[in-house]
Amino acid sequence: MKKVSMGASDLTVSRIAWGCMRLSQDRQQALRSIHAALDAGITLVDHADVYQRGQAEATFSAVWTEAPHLRQQIVLQSKCGIRSAGDPGPDTPARYDHSYRHILDAVEGSLRRLKTEYLDILLLHRPDALVEPEEVARAFAELHAAGKVRWFGVSNHTPGQIRLLRRWVEQPLIANQLQLSLLHTNMIDEGIWMNRNDLPAPSRGEGTLDFCRLHDITVQAWSPLAGGQLGGRPSSMPNALLQGAATLVAEMAADKGVSPEAILIAWVLRHPAGTVPIIGTMNPQRIAATCRADEVELTREEWYRLYEAGRGVRVP
Ligand SMILES: NC(=O)c1ccc[n+]([C@@H]2O[C@H](COP(=O)([O-])OP(=O)(O)OC[C@H]3O[C@@H](n4cnc5c(N)ncnc54)[C@H](OP(=O)(O)O)[C@@H]3O)[C@@H](O)[C@H]2O)c1
Repeated sequence: MKKVSMGASDLTVSRIAWGCMRLSQDRQQALRSIHAALDAGITLVDHADVYQRGQAEATFSAVWTEAPHLRQQIVLQSKCGIRSAGDPGPDTPARYDHSYRHILDAVEGSLRRLKTEYLDILLLHRPDALVEPEEVARAFAELHAAGKVRWFGVSNHTPGQIRLLRRWVEQPLIANQLQLSLLHTNMIDEGIWMNRNDLPAPSRGEGTLDFCRLHDITVQAWSPLAGGQLGGRPSSMPNALLQGAATLVAEMAADKGVSPEAILIAWVLRHPAGTVPIIGTMNPQRIAATCRADEVELTREEWYRLYEAGRGVRVP
């Protein structure tokens, strides 16, 4: 698989990454998924402390137990900052927490569950309305100095929120993980429907894609297979749109001799922002088939045809 560099870091990673949000709690099944991802050439693996309440990280660590040398080959990323309802007391509400204390505690928890001494990348999972950037800066500086986290980034952050952090945080923010797929195109729509009143859906991305390109922040696309909605998984989108998009994707897949999932990922990869899709399939066959996106080159015309099908409207 082709490699890309991650933002302004010295990290080189597979251009398709793999996310562990849905990792099986069955050790053998989890190991089959992990090895399928590694065999497909994936080197960037995404976690979060909250995935399956920490169990995803804990189960993943089985891979080192059987093959310790893999730690050097995998670029390990985790996220912190989401605190679930019921933690710690039954009445505690869900909230975001970018305080110094929580960031440090969360990273300690991830390192313990992942059975590793360092994370290659730590992302702030979702913007915290009560963020105090000085605290984030202090936490990041300590984690970096202690060798516990090599690089830092954010997820679901707007340009304004990133600017605020950058004013205090000394380490470069190298990635912004955002939702992007053929069925979730808000960040692209806002550029195409610029200054028009007929934007097909509300978008408050504030130029995030262009901002990240300008500032050496790699966009990582979460749910790039749209959670399997084109493959029959539950969807709130209109049936006609799903069917139209699925038909076009299937036709292109047949034409290029790859799976529909490979076309969805090739569509994300075709954007010159250098976005790294984080696929979330746990099915070993689907992982292999999806990663063949690396071989697919979509033309400008194919990209736009797919975009219109996913949007269900013509470009203006
Ligand atoms: N930063 C954030 O806020 C955020 C939010 C969500 C996710 N993420 C990250 O992004 C990663 C990927 O998210 P995701 O899992 O939602 O991404 P995804 O790759 O879009 O969706 C994967 C899901 O779709 C199913 N699927 C895909 N193609 C299918 C088909 N043709 N037919 C039936 N089912 C199909 C998969 O099932 P199988 O396993 O059976 O193939 C799996 O359940 C996560 O693991 C996590 O690391 C980040």
